[in-house]
Amino acid sequence: MLLFAGCAESRRPWTIDASRYAVAADRADASQAGAQILAQGGNAVDAAVATAFALAVVRPESCGLGGGGFMLIHRPGDSPIALDYREQAPADTRLALYRDANNRLDPARIRRGGLSVGIPGTVRGLLHAFDNYGSGNITREQVLAPAIRLAMQPLVADAHLSDAIEAFRKSCSEQPDNRRRFAGLSLAILTDDAVGRTRIDRSDMVSTLRAIAEHGAEGFYEGGIAQRIVDTVRSDGGVMSRTDLADYRVRELTPIQCSCFGYDVLGMPPPSSGGAVIGETLHILESFNESGLREAYQRDYIDRDVPEAALCAQPGTSSHVQHVQPGEYVHLLVESMKPAFADRAALLGDASPEVSASVARMLNASRARRIAESIDVRRAAAWTQYHESVMVGDDGGTSHLSVIDTNGMAVACTESVNLLFGSRLLVPGTGVILNDTMDDFSLDTSTPNAFGLRQSERNIVRAGARPLSSMSPTIMLKDGDVRLVVGASGGPRIITSTLQTMLHVMVGDRRVDDAVAAPRVHNQWLPDLVYVQPGVSAALRDSLRRRGHTLKESKTIGHVQAVERVPDGRLRAACDPDKGGRPAGR
Ligand code: DON
Repeated sequence: MLLFAGCAESRRPWTIDASRYAVAADRADASQAGAQILAQGGNAVDAAVATAFALAVVRPESCGLGGGGFMLIHRPGDSPIALDYREQAPADTRLALYRDANNRLDPARIRRGGLSVGIPGTVRGLLHAFDNYGSGNITREQVLAPAIRLAMQPLVADAHLSDAIEAFRKSCSEQPDNRRRFAGLSLAILTDDAVGRTRIDRSDMVSTLRAIAEHGAEGFYEGGIAQRIVDTVRSDGGVMSRTDLADYRVRELTPIQCSCFGYDVLGMPPPSSGGAVIGETLHILESFNESGLREAYQRDYIDRDVPEAALCAQPGTSSHVQHVQPGEYVHLLVESMKPAFADRAALLGDASPEVSASVARMLNASRARRIAESIDVRRAAAWTQYHESVMVGDDGGTSHLSVIDTNGMAVACTESVNLLFGSRLLVPGTGVILNDTMDDFSLDTSTPNAFGLRQSERNIVRAGARPLSSMSPTIMLKDGDVRLVVGASGGPRIITSTLQTMLHVMVGDRRVDDAVAAPRVHNQWLPDLVYVQPGVSAALRDSLRRRGHTLKESKTIGHVQAVERVPDGRLRAACDPDKGGRPAGR
């Protein structure tokens, strides 16, 4: 199938080799912001914070000060940290707010505008990381300086931002009311007719970033900026208050940890579903006969000529010699994603004792083995095989960055405003675009959210809770040292694109640039479809269809940004070519 055929290009601007440190973000100038801080003596956390503030300026469609995120930190010789600075439902949130005049739940209300905005966590999250885990060699002014410099320049739209602007303008022309409601964002988008270039005016960010540099998180969560945020949300029907902002706190969590295929994996715990779903899928896959799985991987990804008699990967068949059929690896991968996503739908929500117990269940290796034994290597399972009783778009507003520093400290950080330009509300005079992350909650258990995800009672919108997320910052360790830092943007495809990148390294022994470039597949249990990227060969598609999968073409499946540290200590970073990111390092 030669899924790696496209990787033979000699010139790959989206990947670099480095000997000391490397940053992979989905904009070149943001990666450079992090590299600059590392060159000044900062550590991986300082670099991640500088990169994230820079992204807040140059990826307004994806992330920013009005959003939230997760950060995973590996400290050599010390325990790992997971920071949750996810948006939170305001204290006055009630399900009734999302009902229309006929008392019916109205998904449009939670998807855009004032009622879609959760309390933003990014500023507190980044400064918490910087204050507690930064090197101490870098001042707050220094870490914000690259972002301030970027905000002073016109932001010329690249392909990803142009597509986002196009989608926004289309929605304004289709629904004229949007032009009035989202006038702030409309006015910030400028098209230079002479050369047809589209720019976004980010100059208002300068004073906001300076206020944060001067006053810390209080410069954002209290005072004039906080008042403007509240006024903007409330003027569009939302319920956020000054108290909500002032009371917002970062949560420090213990990362999910599991060992698979000889690696230790650190993942993000709830309210992210990323660590649990990736861990469960890996445990299911690991239950198959490993050499058979590796043969099947080779058959599907590397070459057509596998040995005539290769081991079938089915669990319990270690002595059973069979032909490895085309598509077997990808079929098993998809079949392993299904039960994990079904568990996500049925069992996960914001952190609580019940959710922790469910995560433990999802990560239980014996349960994974039982699931693996029920998977048919020749046939796709019906979705109803998993959690039948729970009736529970592509890339939008998310950005992932990965960093490894000179000392082997590593940061995986994913931030989001949810859909492109979040709620579409721009806070006047601040440059802050507010998230629409409330849509990651469910209004009921039968209505899918914007990403087609159905979720259980545990993720119903409620005051003070943080909605379930797919963001999956992940760090893979080998013998205690960082091996791979990875994550993605793309809604639920974050999970599957991160997972596939990891598996190319774990099972396929591939380089990170090959792993990032390989075309991907995606299944999230419901809808009952296997999404495939254009690079997936006709032979693989046929073999999946023969097994009963329904395929659907998808131009992109997540946008991955990753850095690997190979066993001799050298670094390689790769940014998904699709989103236009470029790594930086030395
Ligand atoms: O947290 C989540 O799962 C979503 N808010 C992520 C949204 C997303 O990735 C949009 N696309 N890039």
